[in-house]
Amino acid sequence: MHEQMNKELLELVNQQINKELESAYIYFAASAICQNWQYRGFASWLEIQAKEELEHAKKFYQHLIDRNIAVEFYDIKKPKMNPKNLEEIFKIAYEHEQYISKSIRELGKKAEEKGDRAIIPLLDWFEEEQIEEEKITYEIYYKLKEAKNDQQILLFLDKYYGKRKEKEEEEK
Ligand SMILES: [Fe+2]
Ligand SMILES: [Fe+2]
Repeated sequence: MHEQMNKELLELVNQQINKELESAYIYFAASAICQNWQYRGFASWLEIQAKEELEHAKKFYQHLIDRNIAVEFYDIKKPKMNPKNLEEIFKIAYEHEQYISKSIRELGKKAEEKGDRAIIPLLDWFEEEQIEEEKITYEIYYKLKEAKNDQQILLFLDKYYGKRKEKEEEEK
């Protein structure tokens, strides 16, 4: 027997799938801009992040499929990306992650309210993941803000964050 899901909760999960895909879209857009600006390191960091966001979307829809529930895919919003500099790109990323954290917390509240214990471990994982993502996007935003237009520091940071490696499949 597959466990069904409360309608309101399911709606939020489907929306969350969309938000994770939107996150990927934002990070891919940011990565493309960094490539245009010749910051290959930040472009690479952002591309890895975009791919992680795709994995996040997949975690949610896989959960529905495993419970024999049909997944709904919605339209993805065009990323609002018109940054002046690197600092602004990471400000957008940080604020977006704050918005996602809020959305995950609301999902958690709804799951508890509807007594859906099956989805709680997945949401706990996302709560922790969001702490990490807010932390790292804020860290980079802060450093870029401090660096201002110091090209030497910016190139150093570009190289430093460009070293980020893709996670192994099981860690995603
Ligand atoms: Fe995510
Ligand atoms: Fe994220």
